[in-house]
Amino acid sequence: MHVLLTAGPTYEPLDPVRFLGNRSTGKMGYALAAAFAAEGAEVTLVSGPSHLPDPASPRIRTVRVETAAEMFAAAAEAAPAADVWVFAAAVADYRPAHVAIEKIKKTGETLTLELVKNVDIAATLGQSKRAEQFAVGFALETTNELAHAQDKLHRKNFDLIVLNSLRDAGAGFGHDTNKVTVLDAAGQIVNFELQSKADVARGLVSLILARLAPTS
Ligand code: CTP
Repeated sequence: MHVLLTAGPTYEPLDPVRFLGNRSTGKMGYALAAAFAAEGAEVTLVSGPSHLPDPASPRIRTVRVETAAEMFAAAAEAAPAADVWVFAAAVADYRPAHVAIEKIKKTGETLTLELVKNVDIAATLGQSKRAEQFAVGFALETTNELAHAQDKLHRKNFDLIVLNSLRDAGAGFGHDTNKVTVLDAAGQIVNFELQSKADVARGLVSLILARLAPTS
């Protein structure tokens, strides 16, 4: 079985020394890569800038990227041959419209940045998903969590969506623990209690493997 995983943040350059980024560490995605490899899968881990070292498993090939555009290119290359796609990356939705060649100097009292939309990696690949392929997305919502997650699942052609809890101490960005709710297209819900990201990853992988078409 082949798995494509996106993980970590993306950095969108502004000038030679600055970028727009986010607080994703890549921990959840790297834990998923390890859990899939432990089940015997071959994993392509497309990782944005994470401080985590490349996983040592020979079953995990790590492709390091920086921007959403680079992440899309690497993911699009691996997607057709992968049986399972897992989009755990926190992709920047927008990037600076212009990347300054020289360092931006401090001139006025205010500075306005123009941003343009990045490619939606999951949604774009989702349009070419074959019937036997299985896609899993992540969502982090602050209002109407279940409804927004369900909508995202349909929009991006996911088979499952993993909703990160924002309400619980110890869950989410930077933590070693996580608490998630998994939804499928039929609205069926599986709750995972607060536990280590490694345990959440193992639980998610067994859920995904159980849902895979019997032919794969
Ligand atoms: N995603 C992606 N490419 C993007 C944005 C998001 O592949 N440019 C993926 C994420 O990896 C995640 C899922 O889409 O699996 C949902 O990401 P999220 O940021 O919650 O969704 P958005 O589409 O950005 O929706 P919004 O910010 O409006 O809630």
